[in-house]
Amino acid sequence: MHSLAKMLGVQKILEIGTANGYSTIWLADAICKQKNARLLGLEISAPSYKKALENIVAQGLEKIVEIKFGNALEILPTLTEQFDLIFVDAQKALYADFWKLCKPLMRPNCVVVFDDVLKFPEKTKTLHAQMQREKNYQKIILPTDGDDGILVVRQK
Ligand SMILES: C[S@@+](CC[C@H](N)C(=O)[O-])C[C@H]1O[C@@H](n2cnc3c(N)ncnc32)[C@H](O)[C@@H]1O
Repeated sequence: MHSLAKMLGVQKILEIGTANGYSTIWLADAICKQKNARLLGLEISAPSYKKALENIVAQGLEKIVEIKFGNALEILPTLTEQFDLIFVDAQKALYADFWKLCKPLMRPNCVVVFDDVLKFPEKTKTLHAQMQREKNYQKIILPTDGDDGILVVRQK
């Protein structure tokens, strides 16, 4: 994800499912030299949210990273900004719902990445079915560790 963010030269990232901020810090590092760099993370677990804030401050990334605490399903419809890269890594069974809510938040050429799309076939089957119907988007599944993969999506 760090390499991808660098290669794409993205400025604004949305992360759905921040946990303790590990991926957030990698992604923020990839964009920190960009003008107008911004990463917005969403996290539903209070302890994880608190830990993420601590970790981000410890890395000196608080100027470009904001974490919102709450359910992404409720926060996403309230967002008024758009992003160049969206990393979806929260509840796998909700991936298709997140996708629908992410569509209005995509800048031109925005790339959306869904993590763990092969490891949980039952939970991600609605997303895979939805993606079959998305004729206006390029899609590729890249293998990651072991039996897993990421789904990378971009408008044609
Ligand atoms: C796999 S972890 C994220 C890991 C993180 N992206 C990383 O790679 O370091 C998934 C996180 O999504 C959060 N989560 C699950 N459902 C969510 C929702 N509906 N809204 C926001 N966060 C959610 C969980 O609390 C958990 O911390």
